Amino acid sequence: MRLDRFLPLVLLIGITHCFFFEVVNPSPAGIALEQPEASTWPVQPESAPQGQSEAVSTIEESATAVLEAQIENIQARHDVTQNLDYKCGPKWGKCPMGTCCSSSGYCGTSKLHCRSPDCLIDFGTCDAHRVPKGPPTSEILRPHIGQVPYGPQEIRSCTVPGTVALTFDDGPTRYTGELLDLLDKYEAPATFFITGVNNGKGQIDDLSLPWAPLIERMLLSGHQIASHTWSHEDLSKISPTQRREQMEKNEGALRNIIGSFPTYMRPPYSSCLADSGCREAMGDMGYHIILYDIDTDDWKNDNPSLIQRSKDLFDHALSSGNPATKSWIVIGHDAHEQTVHNLTEHMLRTISRLGYRPVTIGDCLQDPRDNWYRIDNRWPGHKNKKNTPNKKGPKKVVPQQVSVDGTCGANYTCLGSRFGLCCSSVHLCGNSTLHCGVGCLRDSGYCTVEAPSNGDAWDPKSPGRSGKSEGESEFRTVGTAAATSLFLALVVAVWM
Ligand SMILES: *[C@@H]1O[C@H](CO)[C@@H](O)[C@H](O)[C@H]1NC(C)=O
Ligand SMILES: *[C@@H]1O[C@H](CO)[C@@H](O)[C@H](O)[C@H]1NC(C)=O
Ligand SMILES: *[C@@H]1O[C@H](CO)[C@@H](O)[C@H](O)[C@H]1NC(C)=O
Ligand SMILES: [Zn+2]
Repeated sequence: MRLDRFLPLVLLIGITHCFFFEVVNPSPAGIALEQPEASTWPVQPESAPQGQSEAVSTIEESATAVLEAQIENIQARHDVTQNLDYKCGPKWGKCPMGTCCSSSGYCGTSKLHCRSPDCLIDFGTCDAHRVPKGPPTSEILRPHIGQVPYGPQEIRSCTVPGTVALTFDDGPTRYTGELLDLLDKYEAPATFFITGVNNGKGQIDDLSLPWAPLIERMLLSGHQIASHTWSHEDLSKISPTQRREQMEKNEGALRNIIGSFPTYMRPPYSSCLADSGCREAMGDMGYHIILYDIDTDDWKNDNPSLIQRSKDLFDHALSSGNPATKSWIVIGHDAHEQTVHNLTEHMLRTISRLGYRPVTIGDCLQDPRDNWYRIDNRWPGHKNKKNTPNKKGPKKVVPQQVSVDGTCGANYTCLGSRFGLCCSSVHLCGNSTLHCGVGCLRDSGYCTVEAPSNGDAWDPKSPGRSGKSEGESEFRTVGTAAATSLFLALVVAVWM
């Protein structure tokens, strides 16, 4: 029975394969895979000047990168029986259905072929084509709340004097847990620009992988989570539809983990060119576009004998200003060993030695926490699904009219009104933090996410977290458990 259903498909695939083999592949089967390009690992630089990322990435070739590439290459040769040696790319066309087109232009199904961002998304299947579970986020409203500019404007510097916003792109990776330990030790908030599925790490919301707990931990430790796209494509070089997918898929995956998704993003390779339409698109999707004003070049210096260069770059930049008037946004990558094991501690020490303090991007721009994320009320996140039976039953739906005089609540909603989208605690429509933040009436308009108020860990102005000196690990476990419960309780409350 089943066979009957699949027979046409099998035939179709067979025919496609024959076609490709004869027309597209002039070389004998079994040809060795090409050495992966140096850019496949470590991650390509954001900080490369716009339009030059490709040129720069070819010279990016640290010893570890070569070693990693060789290991992966051996792995790939093992897989060679599964690999179909079709050529693909702009000259050759697409790979057979379900197979990936590698950066060097071969079809196959190994990690090497399929991992983003190297895998060619227009010529086969890639990790990039995976879709996070759950409803798409495309219908969630994206009002521009707060004073911080949204796209098309790009933000390269902070506004609060004396602050340094350390930012880490491309994670989470195998090094991220250690980075979080270090930031905890220094009580230093940072910002993570997260990529959903890059370098063959799998999807961040795949619960069999270590990434989702790391992302939850970031939130609970007071760090800010921001988007670095789904699969690290160059947003200036892909179509408007692909660009939207790059943002929305990462939103869906982050929503699956923390129940909401960020309003802050950094374009991969820092590439979001105005004439590609990228900057406008980011604004339309409700994003702040964040660049930087200190480049550590850490991706070029990921070696004990080179990392001093990054330290010098950082120290030199930081000491060129006065903390009474100056602030900084620093770019680094938690994908690199030396960044996590060496550079970051040096940066944290320099920050306090020169009289600065480390903060998140949102705090260095004085943006209230409620504005950092958009909540998805339809989806509670994986943790809450089992223990939130809907006791109340379906909510009574009161048919609401759009507010005509700026008041809201009961029978009037701000959605669609000319006074702003949010209904404040005193029943007035507006777009400001006063309307959309704490006390906002969810039944009568849009509200920003309510950040859990679990004490000091969330408040940048409080003197610091207590109870860490003695019995540190026990305190931390209990504290984390309590914070987790509180956070989950709040998420559940907000969701219901
Ligand atoms: C409120 O924000 C929405 C969405 O960004 C916008 O369309 C509307 O014009 C804003 N209203 C006011 C009064 O600012
Ligand atoms: C850290 O960097 C310094 C140079 O700044 C280097 O001498 C040292 O070996 C590095 N440490 C580790 C653990 O890699
Ligand atoms: C809302 O409308 C219902 C019926 O349409 C009415 O009975 C009720 O008094 C209204 N509530 C308010 C606060 O205006
Ligand atoms: Zn990146």
